[in-house]
Amino acid sequence: MRIYKTKDYEDMSRKAANVISAQVITKPDCVLGLATGSTPIGTYKQLIERYQNGDLDFSEVKSVNLDEYKGLPKDHDQSYYYFMYTNLFKDINIDLDNTNIPNGMEPDSDKECDRYNKVIESMGGVDLQILGLGHNGHIGFNEPEEVFEKLTHCVDLTESTIEANKRFFASADDVPRQAYTMGIKTIMQAKKILLVVSGEDKAAILRDALCGPITPQVPASILQLHNDVIVVADEAALSLMD
Ligand code: GLP
Repeated sequence: MRIYKTKDYEDMSRKAANVISAQVITKPDCVLGLATGSTPIGTYKQLIERYQNGDLDFSEVKSVNLDEYKGLPKDHDQSYYYFMYTNLFKDINIDLDNTNIPNGMEPDSDKECDRYNKVIESMGGVDLQILGLGHNGHIGFNEPEEVFEKLTHCVDLTESTIEANKRFFASADDVPRQAYTMGIKTIMQAKKILLVVSGEDKAAILRDALCGPITPQVPASILQLHNDVIVVADEAALSLMD
């Protein structure tokens, strides 16, 4: 595991974009595993700038997103489809047909999870998986549990996640209670993983994830077992690390 400590959020975004750029340049038809949340927004801005400057070409890139709220249509401004479209896809030359996000409007969980697993499999797996970190250690929407869930599944969001994400909705009651998420095995099968973390409020959970026991109670702790993880985190997020 390589850890890059950055000065601040801007610096984190630039360095994370360097890792993604290297992937896209060295394998133009790579599969990117994409994440939502406020943390990667700056990274995506950097990628857009590089595309606009002529330094990056996404025309052959394929993508799979980690997760989606169950029950939100694509055009809901809090759906992860909408997030990806507005924060990245609309401003780069990725072919929308090559982008994949779980379908939040499919009510049959087994059907949607099965479909999404097959999509990922048909792409030959993920070359570079980008991850943010939830305050409770979740990755994607893999919430703290008794066991690591392997494949795409439907999760009941924890109160702490609903609380953390309510800032984006009119009220906590509007936050969906369930989501579809890629499972831990699929995340761990990515050839390379890039974890981006920013802010003092993530310092304790980042320390637990990187240095604590490997447990499904801290889903991100499983990353300690992956042999190609790059952590790009700012000083504040790394402030509790020795
Ligand atoms: C969300 C997403 C995660 C994200 C995390 C942290 O609920 N499902 O993929 O990494 O929470 O979000 P943020 O970066 O806004 O702190």
